[in-house]
Amino acid sequence: MRKLNRFDNVNSVSRIYLNDIIKKGDVCVDATMGKGYDTIYLSEAVGEEGFVYAFDVQKEAIVKTSEKLEESMFPQNTKLILDGHENIDKYVKENIKCAVFNLGYLPGCEHKIITKPETTIQAIEKSLDLLCEGGVVCISVYTGHEGGKEEGNAIIEYTQNLEQKKYNVIMTTFINQKNNPPHIVLIEKKK
Ligand SMILES: C[S@@+](CC[C@H](N)C(=O)[O-])C[C@H]1O[C@@H](n2cnc3c(N)ncnc32)[C@H](O)[C@@H]1O
Repeated sequence: MRKLNRFDNVNSVSRIYLNDIIKKGDVCVDATMGKGYDTIYLSEAVGEEGFVYAFDVQKEAIVKTSEKLEESMFPQNTKLILDGHENIDKYVKENIKCAVFNLGYLPGCEHKIITKPETTIQAIEKSLDLLCEGGVVCISVYTGHEGGKEEGNAIIEYTQNLEQKKYNVIMTTFINQKNNPPHIVLIEKKK
């Protein structure tokens, strides 16, 4: 079996940050549910007393994730929502500790259903409004697919203009990787 490293991919790297940020009892959002790996991670990280709202526009994501949830530690602490993350404010009425975005398309499925710059930025903006002080929006950005570069550029333009008094914004990438390496953008709401 292949040995795993901490910095192998955006998921392993973003978990280093998220493990430090998310505590038991927190409320979190998985803005792009997909096959549910992030949803399950968040559900277990917030525990029985916490809560997770997970969004996706594909029914398949709901089916795959609810199957995984049934086998998971805390199947009751998660609400799966078949709607775009740009409508997050219709469903989430309390403050959140973290919102996780894993952009692009669902691997193995229809590549035409991808996250789009306009709705992604709307969702990030609404997530920032919901964030508690010290909370974080974590965005994994892929630029190799059609439309990915435009979305990546839109996110950089939006986040680098966030007010420095209110937010810390950092970006992590794989500078020795060939062929459009992904990157992670983290936005922390200052206390
Ligand atoms: C890279 S996948 C997410 C992977 C997922 N986090 C996991 O753990 O398997 C991106 C997902 O975003 C979804 N998506 C696209 N547009 C969306 C939108 N406006 N709101 C919510 N999800 C969206 C796609 O359907 C796809 O499932």
